Amino acid sequence: MMDWTDRHCRYLHRLITRHALLYTEMVTTGALLHGDQGRHLDFNAEEHPVALQLGGSEPDDLAACARLAERWGYDEVNLNCGCPSERVQKGAFGACLMAEPQLVADCVKAMRDATALPVTVKHRIGVDRIESYGFVRDFVGTVAAAGCEVFIVHARNAWLQGLSPKENREIPPLRYELVAQLKREFPQLTIAVNGGLKTPDQIATQLELLDGVMIGREAYHEPWSMAQWDSRFFGQPDPAASREQVEAAWLDYLDRVHASGRSWAHAMRHALGLWNGTPGARRWRQVWSDHRLKTLAPREVARQATAARLSGIPIAA
Ligand SMILES: Cc1cc2nc3c(=O)[nH]c(=O)nc-3n(C[C@H](O)[C@H](O)[C@H](O)COP(=O)(O)O)c2cc1C
Repeated sequence: MMDWTDRHCRYLHRLITRHALLYTEMVTTGALLHGDQGRHLDFNAEEHPVALQLGGSEPDDLAACARLAERWGYDEVNLNCGCPSERVQKGAFGACLMAEPQLVADCVKAMRDATALPVTVKHRIGVDRIESYGFVRDFVGTVAAAGCEVFIVHARNAWLQGLSPKENREIPPLRYELVAQLKREFPQLTIAVNGGLKTPDQIATQLELLDGVMIGREAYHEPWSMAQWDSRFFGQPDPAASREQVEAAWLDYLDRVHASGRSWAHAMRHALGLWNGTPGARRWRQVWSDHRLKTLAPREVARQATAARLSGIPIAA
């Protein structure tokens, strides 16, 4: 998720689930081919398995970027066919690619020819007022014929006119039944559903019919909501028994960020929801967000934040 799932965020999430597949922010082919590749692509070894999401619509450029993904050690490369933003529409990629399934197929083929990594596609169930199942079925069928075996389906339309990206994640209705229908029609494909899912029980219900679930906002805002994913969905031990344990490991990470001269606050913003739902969470968050403390070492801020969290006394603004 743009501005959210950077390498710091992914490091935090990896302290809470070892097995969920993590995705980068969308990186455009232009940014990768003409920009600072290290800044866009470097990640911590602990983040595996991690997928690079690309935005673009030129098969040759996407192929070159897929090669970079492999060289950098990513585990998967994903093509964004779901983003509705105006900027992305101007670049003629993202959700508007759903109207051009053959072009997406050409992109997927070029990427598959360029890399041994799995090439996957994230998309919507439709664009604008196209509500028919046949539209998304033909999209998936055409792209699958080019060799894509994994589809992550955000179960709502993208309305390309008149809605902001945020509204496009809230207003078009969720239609999970269309995603289930895709799985019935293409049982050989791996189909994952995305959109509006929060609790482990909701995830489990979807997994009765589908191969995977992608969680966006809930994982970001409530990172502890992932705490039992590994045991429940992967049959593996959960990496962290408590939020204290996650916080301690996260502080070690912040120390390293700070020692390398980078801003720990930039990383910390992704962890502000760690204590959500517990007494004192708001006070803890307030201390960590206090601009006046940003020049201190993270351990000193952590001391103050924990004291505030446990104090039961609101801190002065
Ligand atoms: C801040 C923000 C940035 C996002 N950026 C991306 C992105 O780069 N690529 C993408 O495929 N989806 C992006 N999304 C959409 C989410 O991946 C997801 O499809 C959407 O939020 C619905 O799932 P959710 O209800 O679990 O959040 C973004 C969402 C948010 C809130």
